[in-house]
Parts: sequence; C-alpha cells; structure tokens
Amino acid sequence: MIVLGIDTSCDDTSVGVLRDGRVLANVVSSQDEIHRDWGGVVPNLARRAHQENFPKVLQTALKRAQVSLSDLNVIAVTQGPGLAVSLEVGITQAKELTLTLNIPLVAVNHMEGHLLSPLIASRNDRAPLQIEEVTFPALGLLASGNHTEIVLIHELGRYEILGETVDDAFGEAFDKTARLLGLGFPGGAILSRMARQGNPDAAALPLPMRNSGDLNVSYSGLKTAVRHLTTEISGGDISSLTQSQVADIAAVFEKAAVGTILLKFRRALEAHPVRQIFLGGGAAANLLLRSELRKIAKTAGAKVYTPSSRKLCSDNGAMIAFVGWLKAQRGEFASADMLDRIPQLRLQ
Ligand code: KG4
Ligand code: ZN
Repeated sequence: MIVLGIDTSCDDTSVGVLRDGRVLANVVSSQDEIHRDWGGVVPNLARRAHQENFPKVLQTALKRAQVSLSDLNVIAVTQGPGLAVSLEVGITQAKELTLTLNIPLVAVNHMEGHLLSPLIASRNDRAPLQIEEVTFPALGLLASGNHTEIVLIHELGRYEILGETVDDAFGEAFDKTARLLGLGFPGGAILSRMARQGNPDAAALPLPMRNSGDLNVSYSGLKTAVRHLTTEISGGDISSLTQSQVADIAAVFEKAAVGTILLKFRRALEAHPVRQIFLGGGAAANLLLRSELRKIAKTAGAKVYTPSSRKLCSDNGAMIAFVGWLKAQRGEFASADMLDRIPQLRLQ
C-alpha cells in the first residue's frame, strides 16, 4: 500500500510517501526564514507560504519516491492539533487529491504521528522497533514546540494522556529562553548546543510542580526563573553576558527543563512498569533528554525507542503517512465532504 501523508500543522510544509510503512520520500519545506524576523510563527504568513510551497513539495516527494499520482492508494492528512489556517491548506489539498484520484482519505492526529515515529523504517534501514515487536501497554514521551505529554499507549490507536504541561511546552520554553539570550529562532537546538559548553551546576533553578501530586508539568515558571537568573548574572544588561556565562545559563536551564519532565515521567513509569518507551516530537532531538530518559528506563528494565533520524523527530509528512497506513488497514477512513480541521485535537 502506497500512502501519501501531508502535514501543514504549523510552519513546515511537508509531504511523505511510504510503501507498506517504509519511507520512500519525506520532503519538508521549512518557513523558518519567513518567521525569523517576527520571533515566532505568524499565522497568515504561514498559510500563504503553505499555499505557495505545497505544489513543489508534492512534486519533489513523488519524484524522490519514484512514484506517480496514479500509484497512490491512500491520502493521509493532519487534522490537528495545529494552527487553524495552516491545517486548512493541507486538508484542502488532501481532499482535492482524493477526489481527483478517487482514493480514500485518512485523518491523522499530528501527535499520534510524533508518538509512533520511532516505528518508521527509512528507505534502507530497519526501524528501531518493528510493529510486531511492540508490547502493550507502552509509554510515550512527547516533547515538541507546542506539546509536552506523557502518554500511556494501551494499543495502536488507543491512548491515554497521563500528564502534560499546564502552560508552555518543552520546546517552547527552549525557544523563549533562546530568545531571551539572543540566540535566534527557533532557538531550541541552538540553546541545547550552547548548553554543552556550559556548567549545569553553575546555579540551580526550581523544578515547578514537583510536588503537585499529578503527572503534569509547568514550563512558564521556569521561564521566569531563568529570566531572573539572567538579570542577576548580567546586572540587567543581557548584552554584557560573556559566551561562557550564556553557556552556563543554557546548561542550568536545560538541566531544569529536562529534570522537570523526567521527574514526572519516572513516576509514570513506576505506576505503569512497561518494557518499551517511545520518545517523539521535535525536541526529542535533545541529547540530554535522550540520555537521562535512557538512564531512568534502564533502571526500570525498559528500553527507549527514538525516531531513526532528526527529520523524523520534527514535523514531517512521513509520520502522517505512517499513521495513515495503520488506520487505513483498520478501515478508519474520513469523508472528504465532512473532514474539517480540529486545531485543539487531543490524543484520547
Ligand atoms: O515537533 P516540532 O518540529 O514542531 C511542533 O509540532 O511543535 O518541534 C519543534 C520544537 C521547537 O520548539 C524547537 O526549538 C524544539 O522542538 N527543538 C529542541 C531541540 N531541537 C528542536 N528543543 C530542545 N532541544 C533540542 N535539541
Ligand atoms: Zn509537531
């Protein structure tokens, strides 16, 4: 079965093509350049860029996959969560394709795409884990620019959110701290690189909600704490910070940000002693998060599975095609007349 997956949930226009769950092509057109000057994603600019970029991204994906439109069996598209005006573009294109080609349409939850991305096999490699090897329940940790969730995977297609952020997301906190330190947009990856040169114990930040009694986290308080720390170190003039001071602040922040979510994840693992843990989302590329999560998993006798490439961590069409392939096999199709975007779509 050849599935084409479309994701326009935020600021990346992406189309993936999979044959039987294996990636043939995964093309992503980033809009970072467009939104950089604004320090964040501007919805109307994102919509226009999706409309302009989509035809080229589609053609490039088909060419790389060496398939033509008539070879496609299913179209999968992100229904939510995401920016309404951005989701709209992908859904309109998906509907047009299914009607022209007379093939079925599948609606996909973007977060399910991130969650199951460790199962995706790239063109030549094996996936880190084959679907038949998954033992349920499993636990998922999702960390992206808009979401931070601890998910119990009862089985494929049946999920329960055990804990989540009550305000800012993990990646968002990195982006905002990077902006505070003048490191650019989107700053998550840059901040994390800086942190490697710094001393994580140069100062200590509080872990918000550590005693909240649930599995939720907060990143807004951490953002304020790192702002105070920065003011204290710089004497109020951020431009006076040395490279080494910036690196220390980045390291202190990263340690607290990772510690915040992993404190709750450890509790989730105690309550649900699973063998397999899936890490997904753009911020799953964070090396400290990966290594600290692996330590917790090892102690508990579990194993962590991550997407096989950086591209499969961040927003991409292949993960949408993958979930579309699973849903198509279960006969879970959407109606092209009825399908509408759900910007606040949840995993359960
Ligand atoms: O999943 P994604 O591509 O888009 C959303 O659906 O949000 O995630 C992007 C987010 C951004 O906030 C970005 O700064 C963050 O992931 N990110 C990182 C790292 N690489 C990307 N955050 C922390 N450490 C990283 N290495
Ligand atoms: Zn995402």
